Amino acid sequence: MTTNPVKPLLEVKNVHAVYGRKIRALKGVSVELHAGEIVALIGNNGAGKTTMLKTISGILTPESGEVLYQGRRISGMEPHRIARLGIAHVPEGRHVFPRLTVMENLEMGAYCRKEASLLDEYRRIFDLFPLLGRRRAQLAGTLSGGEQQMLAMGRALMASPKLLMLDEPSMGLSPALVDKIFDIIRKINQLGTPIFLVEQNARKALQVASRGYVLETGNLALSGSASNLLHNKAVRHAYLGIAG
Ligand SMILES: Nc1ncnc2c1ncn2[C@@H]1O[C@H](COP(=O)(O)OP(=O)(O)O)[C@@H](O)[C@H]1O
Ligand SMILES: [Mg+2]
Repeated sequence: MTTNPVKPLLEVKNVHAVYGRKIRALKGVSVELHAGEIVALIGNNGAGKTTMLKTISGILTPESGEVLYQGRRISGMEPHRIARLGIAHVPEGRHVFPRLTVMENLEMGAYCRKEASLLDEYRRIFDLFPLLGRRRAQLAGTLSGGEQQMLAMGRALMASPKLLMLDEPSMGLSPALVDKIFDIIRKINQLGTPIFLVEQNARKALQVASRGYVLETGNLALSGSASNLLHNKAVRHAYLGIAG
């Protein structure tokens, strides 16, 4: 026997995903993510990035292909069961509960935890996002877009996930806030959480990731180390706005 390669934490194998009968959003896509990694999935609007995350978190069941997590098949499982296994999904557009306070939103993120006290979790979240600590009594609907993004990420982290999936965390944010969100993404990863990062901001995503995949209308166009992708001519032209 040859030496056993380390099993990926997450394996998406040849997944096809459809909406209704006509819209084929993923046409046989395979990706993997290993413990410790930040993996970026980049691509234009409509490429199938959100569909990929929905397929992993169980909101969608693939038409064919499968998703394995810790070596176990999760495609076909209900979303709440997948969440309980440790996969947290921060959806596109944040979806915080606008009429609940920051604190109450965070509490919702811990719904599947058994521990009586969440004090350590709150402390961890407020260390990462000091602003949320200061705004703990504020209604989430009155936070700015960037603050809501932090809250959505904080809420996901309340479950102490083993895999964090972020869908377009920088969307609609000012350049300064984009930098801040990416700093926090790096920090969350350094503290031990692997991250599957979906972004249209290809440059930022590839700067923070170790590896990346490029999705084009439901197909993988390219994959590789983030630094190779950042220097790839086709990527530079199509996604980084660099001519030539
Ligand atoms: N709920 C839906 N019903 C029908 N078509 C959808 C739905 N969601 C997404 N699509 C289509 O699937 C394709 C992939 O969409 P999506 O995964 O949202 O792309 P991305 O996140 O990369 O912008 C697009 O053609 C989109 O119009
Ligand atoms: Mg999307």
